[in-house]
Amino acid sequence: MSENSLHELSWDEFDEARSPRPEENEFDQVVENAISRRGVLGGALAFGSGAAVFGTGLFSSTSMARATETLPFGFAPIDTATDFAVHVPEGFSSKVLVRLGDPLWSDAQGAYSADAAIPVEMSDRVFGENTDGMELFEVNGRQLIAVNSEYVNPKINLPPEAEGSPRTAAEVTLLKSLQGVTVMEVANTSGGYEVLIDSPYNRRITHETEMVLAGPLAGHALVQTSADPQGLVVKGTMNNCGSGKTLWGTYLTCEENFNGYFGATGEEPVGEGYARYGIGGEGRYGYEKFDPRYDISVEPNEPHRHGFVTEIDPADPSSVPVKRTALGRFKHENAEMVHAKDGRVVVYLGDDERGEYLYRYVSNDIYTEGGSTEALLDDGTLYVAKFNEDQTGEWLALTSETTGMDAVEILCFTRMAASAVGGTTMDRPEWVAANPLKAEAYCALTNNKNRGVKPNAGGDDTSVNAVNPRETNKYGQIVRWTPADENHAADMFAWDLYVMAGNPTVYDNAYAGSDNVNAGNMFNSPDGMAFSSDGLLWIQTDGNYKNEDEFEGMGNNQMLVGDPETGEIARFMTVPYGAEVTGLCWSVDKMVAFVGVQHPGGSWPDGEGNPRSSIITVQRHDGAAFG
Ligand code: FEO
Ligand code: CA
Ligand code: CA
Repeated sequence: MSENSLHELSWDEFDEARSPRPEENEFDQVVENAISRRGVLGGALAFGSGAAVFGTGLFSSTSMARATETLPFGFAPIDTATDFAVHVPEGFSSKVLVRLGDPLWSDAQGAYSADAAIPVEMSDRVFGENTDGMELFEVNGRQLIAVNSEYVNPKINLPPEAEGSPRTAAEVTLLKSLQGVTVMEVANTSGGYEVLIDSPYNRRITHETEMVLAGPLAGHALVQTSADPQGLVVKGTMNNCGSGKTLWGTYLTCEENFNGYFGATGEEPVGEGYARYGIGGEGRYGYEKFDPRYDISVEPNEPHRHGFVTEIDPADPSSVPVKRTALGRFKHENAEMVHAKDGRVVVYLGDDERGEYLYRYVSNDIYTEGGSTEALLDDGTLYVAKFNEDQTGEWLALTSETTGMDAVEILCFTRMAASAVGGTTMDRPEWVAANPLKAEAYCALTNNKNRGVKPNAGGDDTSVNAVNPRETNKYGQIVRWTPADENHAADMFAWDLYVMAGNPTVYDNAYAGSDNVNAGNMFNSPDGMAFSSDGLLWIQTDGNYKNEDEFEGMGNNQMLVGDPETGEIARFMTVPYGAEVTGLCWSVDKMVAFVGVQHPGGSWPDGEGNPRSSIITVQRHDGAAFG
């Protein structure tokens, strides 16, 4: 397969194309049959132990609540859409805040045009491509948004003559500069929120920005390269997907599909962990042909320096970002930090690949406001989640004793450590969101067509289990857990499924979804999630938007809001055809929501030329807070 087509695959398909795994059976076909024979096989079709979850009647009160209440969330839920527009409920409006290529400094005015690539010298002076996780910070009375630019679309970002493949080192630099992280100041003006061009806080962090490695893996032989023989200084944070915010007001950016940036121009080394992490073969963008740092035949350790959570201080534009190796190395989705009842810092972390794991980091020291935070993300223990069939669960510590690996290997090859202790293979853990009103956290398990079909990349069994109960899971589910003693640092928890997405108009078995899914709110592939301060769960989707067959009636990707207490879920927003919704934060006064629209289709939002990934603002006409 040529790189021209490689970069057009989804990240998951890209990995599987580079390292195909044997199928164990043919459940896909079984499910295809189920579609045409629905109503005959019912829920009995090969759902195994998961049937027990559906039988608990967790949400049996929900449909009654729907019948007797009107507008439980204060807005009339909207219909699905299939057009190239953003839709929000009556009484709300939306507006584009910033698009790919918009200037962050006045010297980059005019950098973007509809018919030419962004000039390479301006490419790190503009808002980047494919907006993703974001957080808002109040600094000295000003509002700063830190936001990820996850990946690039070379066919759009490079000159048309390049046909989607960089031809020069400068074109690689252009792609590198359009990714990473943006810090930008925003302010409410008479015309609504605007990005403050030339704010002293504005900053771009790209694949070339210097940062440091911290934690136990820093300085180890596994992370030493010819450019950095000490293994302490790294260039770039890449494939920045979800985000997090520390208790002390810094930004956490999460390196997800980092493996795809590396390729071999010469003989391919057999690096430890390469197979498990999908490293090898051709790079997605061809970086390795122009920059030896990305060529694993030259720098076999460079991939070990990525796949981390990176901490950035948005308040100090000259601060050096820090890769926190103690939080493990895998395809990090987001990093949800909570302050445990016992004072320690807990960070929940998903590894977004089919059949990979959900993790938790617990600091050794406690956090106190104003106290030193220096060691809190360097000195602690990683755990992997094990979900038991009886709706209890436990966090299994990844230590030398439990894994047979040394402490440093556990951080570099975290996936192998999790396999060694027998964590539960999951249906692609995406964002984790913690309820601000009680000790409870939620993880979106977006979908997993390999559930019950293929092992994960480490060969671990992915048979259905109680928390991932559907073979060839096309719709996804959201699991939530309550830690023992209301202490997020406790090792035991109780869990249930908050929602099982599905299509009740097509299926009457487990693929119809849980009782809180109906024809009026159905969706697939939950991904981004965040709680508002009022304790409502906002759910963003990145799924199938074809609106056909088993996805018929779901329309474009959407943002919904869920009530943790009643289970009720209502559709709040739909985004243009082609786009996913990702990234959500609120203004300090909670009156405006910032929402990311990634990889839109058509010519959104300009109405002509290429589509441009953008952040939009949403507010209520009555000016009331809703966040
Ligand atoms: Fe970048 Fe798992 O989404
Ligand atoms: Ca995501
Ligand atoms: Ca996504």
